[in-house]
Amino acid sequence: MAEFDVIVIGGGPGGYVCAIRCAQLGLKTACVEGRETLGGTCLNVGCIPSKALLNATHHLHEVHENFEKMGLMGGAPTVDWDKMQAYKADVISGNTKGIEFLFKKNKVTWLKGWGSIPAAGQVKVGEEVHTAKAIVIASGSEPASLPGVTVDEEIVVTSTGALALKAIPKSVVVIGAGVIGLEMGSVYARLGAEVTVVEYLDAITPGMDGEVAKSFQKILSKQGLKFVLGAAVQGTEVAEGKATVTYKLRKDDSTHTITADTVLVATGRKPFTAGLGLDALGVALEPRGQITIDSHFATSIPGIYAIGDAVVGPMLAHKAEDEGMAVAEVIAGKHGHVNYDVIPGVIYTTPEVANVGKTEEQLKAEGRAYKVGKFSFMGNARAKAVFQGEGFVKLLADKETDRILGCHIIGPGAGDLIHEVCVAMEFGASAQDLALTCHAHPTYSEAVREAALACGDGAIHA
Ligand code: NAI
Repeated sequence: MAEFDVIVIGGGPGGYVCAIRCAQLGLKTACVEGRETLGGTCLNVGCIPSKALLNATHHLHEVHENFEKMGLMGGAPTVDWDKMQAYKADVISGNTKGIEFLFKKNKVTWLKGWGSIPAAGQVKVGEEVHTAKAIVIASGSEPASLPGVTVDEEIVVTSTGALALKAIPKSVVVIGAGVIGLEMGSVYARLGAEVTVVEYLDAITPGMDGEVAKSFQKILSKQGLKFVLGAAVQGTEVAEGKATVTYKLRKDDSTHTITADTVLVATGRKPFTAGLGLDALGVALEPRGQITIDSHFATSIPGIYAIGDAVVGPMLAHKAEDEGMAVAEVIAGKHGHVNYDVIPGVIYTTPEVANVGKTEEQLKAEGRAYKVGKFSFMGNARAKAVFQGEGFVKLLADKETDRILGCHIIGPGAGDLIHEVCVAMEFGASAQDLALTCHAHPTYSEAVREAALACGDGAIHA
C-alpha cells in the first residue's frame, strides 16, 4: 500500500497526460493501467495502429494511381501482410515505450493492474489498496454493441479486430459510415478488398458539414468504396467462414442481405466503466452511461474526478488530453480550462477531412448571420502537383463582425491545416486576420488563406 496525492485510473491519452501534468505540478502521482503497455486504446488498438496501416496502404495507392504519371515505372509492390503488421507493431511499441519513459522521467508510478475504487480516497489494484487525496477516472471507452450482431473479432470484428486480421479479406462490410468505418474501410479498399459501407442515416459522417460529407462520399466512391445509405442493420450470421449482414432500407422497409469475409462493426463507442465500483460508491451517471461531472471535472463524490471518453463530449484522444491537463491544474489549485468550442476533428483518409467550430447547418439552425469563404484545392499549385486538387477549404465567419466561426477542410494535409484556424479562433480572430497573414508559397496552407480572402474581397486564384 502506498499513499499518493493523485491516482489516475487509466493510462490512455487522457490518463497518462493527466498523470504527467500532475507530477510536473509537484503532486505525488500514480497511474493505474491493466494493459501490458501504456497508451490505452489510442496507442494500442486505435489512432496509432490505424495510422500505420493508413500510411502503408496510402503509399500502395500512390503506386497504383500516380507513380506512372510521374515517370516512376515498374511493377507495383506486392503486399506482405505479416510484415505490414510487424511495422504496425513497431509503431505501437515505439510509442507505448515512449510513455513509459515519460513516466520514469516525470516520476509517475505505474501501478500495473486493473483499478477499482472501494471508497473515496482509495484505489484497489490487485490485492493492494492505495490511498490518494484525489482520484481521476480516465478509463476510456469500448465499442458499443449492436443488437443481433455477435462480435468474434475474427470474422465479425470491432476496430480492434480490424487492425489485426489474419489475412487481407477479399470483401468487407462496414457497419456505420463514421470515422472508424471510413478509415478502416479505406485501408482494406486500398489493399484490394471490395468494401461496402452500410449506414443508417442518409449521409456519411453524421454531424459533419453537409457539403464536405457529400464531397467526401463522392471521393471515397471513386476510390472503390460502395455505400448503402438509409439502411438499418438487423443482425449478422456467420457460416462457413463468412458473415452475412441483414439490413432494412428505411425508405421502403425492404430487407436485404450482403455476405463478406469480414464485417466491421463501427457504430460508435460507449464509456468503459465496468469494474470500477461506481455503483457501490453512488457516482452519478448520465442517461447514456457517461460519468456526470461539473465544470471542474468533479464527479458527484468529493475527491473523485473524471475525464475523457468516460464523460460527455466527443470521444477524441486530444479532447481527453486537454481535460487531463485541465483537471491536473484544478487538483493542484490552479485554473484548468478546456475550450470545447475549439476542438478539431480529423479523419485520416486520403484526402484528409478536418473540421473545427460550427458547421453551416448549425449556424442556420441558430439563425446566425454568417458568410462563407470557399476555396478549391484545384486553385492550389502544390495540391495539383501531387494530384490532390480534389477538395476545398470552407471558412465560416460572422456576417457582421467577420469573426471566424468554423472551418471545414477536405484535402491534402487537412488534419494539420486546421490548426491555424484553431489558433485563430482561440484568439478571436477575424477571417481578415487570416487573409492578411503571409502564407508560404507553395504550400497547402495557401488554400486556407484564400478561403479567408473569399470571406472578404475575394480569393485570388479562384
Ligand atoms: P461514429 O459515431 O463516428 O459513427 C457510427 C456510425 O454508425 C454513424 O454514422 C451511425 O449513424 C451508424 N450506425 C449506428 N447504428 C447503425 C445501424 N444499426 N446500422 C447502420 N449504421 C448504424 O462511431 P465510430 O466510427 O464507431 O467511432 C467511435 C468513436 O471513436 C467516435 O466518437 C470517433 O470520433 C472516435 N474515433 C475518432 C477517430 C479520429 O479522430 N480520427 C478515429 C477513430 C475513432
